[in-house]
Amino acid sequence: MQLIDGKKTAAEIKDEVAAEIALLKDKGGKVPHLVAVLVGSNGASITYVNAKIEACKKVGMHSSIVRLNDTVSEKELLEEVAKLNNDKDVDGFIVQLPLPKHISEKKVTEAISPQKDVDGFHPSNIGKMMLNLPTFLPATPYGILQLIERYNIETNGKHCVVVGRSAIVGSPVANLMSRNSYPGNCTVTLTHSRTVNLPEITRTADILIVALGKPEFITADMVKEGVVIFDVGITRKADSTKKSGYKLFGDVKFDEVAPKASFITPVPGGVGPMTIVSLLKNTILAAKGKMES
Ligand SMILES: NC(=O)c1ccc[n+]([C@@H]2O[C@H](COP(=O)([O-])OP(=O)(O)OC[C@H]3O[C@@H](n4cnc5c(N)ncnc54)[C@H](OP(=O)(O)O)[C@@H]3O)[C@@H](O)[C@H]2O)c1
Repeated sequence: MQLIDGKKTAAEIKDEVAAEIALLKDKGGKVPHLVAVLVGSNGASITYVNAKIEACKKVGMHSSIVRLNDTVSEKELLEEVAKLNNDKDVDGFIVQLPLPKHISEKKVTEAISPQKDVDGFHPSNIGKMMLNLPTFLPATPYGILQLIERYNIETNGKHCVVVGRSAIVGSPVANLMSRNSYPGNCTVTLTHSRTVNLPEITRTADILIVALGKPEFITADMVKEGVVIFDVGITRKADSTKKSGYKLFGDVKFDEVAPKASFITPVPGGVGPMTIVSLLKNTILAAKGKMES
């Protein structure tokens, strides 16, 4: 079994991104600027946004946070989005999800300019991804693709089973793994909560991508020997022995599944850190796109 070290790979990619930014600066170009919009005080959202901003600082990218109260109206948030769309100093921005119930995530996502949509969630960017046209790939699927490449994992002709069909992870990664390219050329089965006999299907997976948000859902009897596993799930459970007060769990029961796998991502330190570097890479793309126009 080989552990796929997302933390180490992300650190390597961060060094590459930092070098690219230094080169941009040398050429007198503009330093890319990423903005994160944070609504409310959801603990996980604050952690994710802080990690993104910290990563920007590390690579020499400009970053800022727009903090809005969770009582902000949908109209006010849409006005903020419009402001960021029109701000020439901002190359890319994200609105951290989830949003409070009274705000439509769909409306907000669609209001973001596709040229600044570095999360890759805008319908026009998703459409381009489906057509294999240049675009911003959604950050988590993009992170998984980079891990596949960096670990030289064979995908051609493999059966890839994806568990979970969310718009941000499961559905796009299923599409990307079926594309006629590397990584890709897999035969893909996309499963969800209505799937019948899931264990029978997961047992046929050469590559298993799990994104359902149920801790330790995938057990050893659900996978075959030699499977490659990407565990996207992150669930926090209270744990008073930890400094943070919680422990993170993936969707895979790591201890019993890992011995059967040829490659596997841990949680934490697997897919998570790659999601952040994908965002940095997308922001550089956004900045370059502007410089070319
Ligand atoms: N590592 C990262 O950077 C990263 C990024 C994003 C998300 N995550 C984590 O990944 C997990 C999934 O998040 P998400 O936003 O992609 O998912 P989501 O929107 O919560 O959707 C969960 C998906 O899992 C499916 N599902 C639920 N129960 C199932 C079951 N028993 N069998 C098969 N499928 C089942 C659901 O099916 P239906 O469609 O039928 O309801 C749905 O498609 C969460 O833990 C999240 O925190 C991590």
